[in-house]
Amino acid sequence: MDLGNLRQNYKKAEFDIQDALANPIEQFKQWFEQALETKPSAEPNAMVLSTIGKNNRPSARVVLLKSIDEGFVFYTNYESRKGENLATNPYASLTFFWAELERQVRIEGKIEKISAEKSTEYFKSRPIGSQIGAIASPQSKPLNNREELETLFDSIQKNYEETNSIERPKNWGGYRLIPDYVEFWQGRESRLHDRITYLLKENDDEKSSSVWKIVRLAP
Ligand SMILES: Cc1cc2nc3c(=O)[nH]c(=O)nc-3n(C[C@H](O)[C@H](O)[C@H](O)COP(=O)(O)O)c2cc1C
Repeated sequence: MDLGNLRQNYKKAEFDIQDALANPIEQFKQWFEQALETKPSAEPNAMVLSTIGKNNRPSARVVLLKSIDEGFVFYTNYESRKGENLATNPYASLTFFWAELERQVRIEGKIEKISAEKSTEYFKSRPIGSQIGAIASPQSKPLNNREELETLFDSIQKNYEETNSIERPKNWGGYRLIPDYVEFWQGRESRLHDRITYLLKENDDEKSSSVWKIVRLAP
């Protein structure tokens, strides 16, 4: 395996500061729509969520972006490892890589729980198997074997078949990352990539429409 010689020359597109929209969430939506249009092999809404755990150690995993409002929303188990991390340190980052477009987006900010109503609404919109799975899985906790999980699933499914009712468990719901830093990376030739960053301006008392400072960084 010659990993040293494994390299790509990126030349699909350019991203200039003049073309950057004033708001990074709007800019993200534009790139996300383009990622959807390319019909990528991987899920375009898959993103790496990085959190900080015990002893300030980082921990990362993939989750799915499920909606965009004033922030970026995903769903999970609040008692999972990521949930425990976020309960003690709400700062986190999201990383997207859209290989087909030679693009990366890095988003940093603070995470909050979305409302219980919104979580319930989304929970109910999921296929029934996913709803049962979310209830059955004590996410991130040790299991003795797979049967243990399947037994939990079967008993919840049986209960659902008998009662025809299912409720969102309190430990399952959505989080929203409210960004204060967003970086758009477009691969370019000879490693001269474009990096356009948005930093939320602090104490911005000007009545300007943009509170985001846009800066190009060296690749
Ligand atoms: C493509 C993909 C999508 C995933 N989406 C989610 C998700 O939306 N929510 C979630 O809790 N876990 C999701 N997972 C599983 C997580 O990566 C992870 O295994 C799980 O959340 C437990 O992480 P934790 O122990 O750090 O809390 C996904 C995994 C992959 C590979």
